[in-house]
Amino acid sequence: MSNEAKQAKVASTLALAPVVPVVIIEDAAKAVGMARALVAGGIPAIEVTLRTPAALDAVRAIAAEVEGAFIGVGTVLTARDLEAALKAGAKFAVSPGSSPRLLDAADDSELPLLPGAATSSEAMELLERGYRFQKFFPAVAAGGVKLISAWASPLPQITFCPTGGISLASAPEFLALPNVACVGGSWLTPADKLAAGDFAGIEALAREAAQLKR
Ligand code: 3PG
Repeated sequence: MSNEAKQAKVASTLALAPVVPVVIIEDAAKAVGMARALVAGGIPAIEVTLRTPAALDAVRAIAAEVEGAFIGVGTVLTARDLEAALKAGAKFAVSPGSSPRLLDAADDSELPLLPGAATSSEAMELLERGYRFQKFFPAVAAGGVKLISAWASPLPQITFCPTGGISLASAPEFLALPNVACVGGSWLTPADKLAAGDFAGIEALAREAAQLKR
């Protein structure tokens, strides 16, 4: 797939819903129930982070069993992570930042990547390599709504998915910006609800998030 085609895939992924849930999963047996709850609540694009040993099993299970889910892998740091994500059935990958080696690997991979940027220079370097869609991470810590709205005028070619420190309450300020497609956040899949298998609770959180206006 060409880089341009991969950008188009990222664009359509970010358009699916106002929020991309960022999932840290400890127990792969909870993955299918969780993903079905998110999809039922109106949140199809799901990022499972490579931060736990269960992550790739969770991605495999969701890819195989959850109709309507658009599964991605997050916290992708290396070429090997990208390869593992693709093999597990991921449709997109997300990284907290970028490195030349990761971007070289992404050029050679079929998996569309949403790479992270936290400064103007990082965003420009990614733009030079064709990334018109970027994760703004860590959104609140790096400057929040003020920083990202300051980028809208000089960097109008870039559309962001701010992630990091965003909640249901603060999401609308980000979603109102012209250079924001959607936001990412972990609040839809809290550790206690995942541990308890409280999928109805996760579906309720997804439903609230899906109703956010963009
Ligand atoms: C993360 O990397 O954990 C994501 O940015 C989610 O951040 P949050 O927990 O602040 O939503």
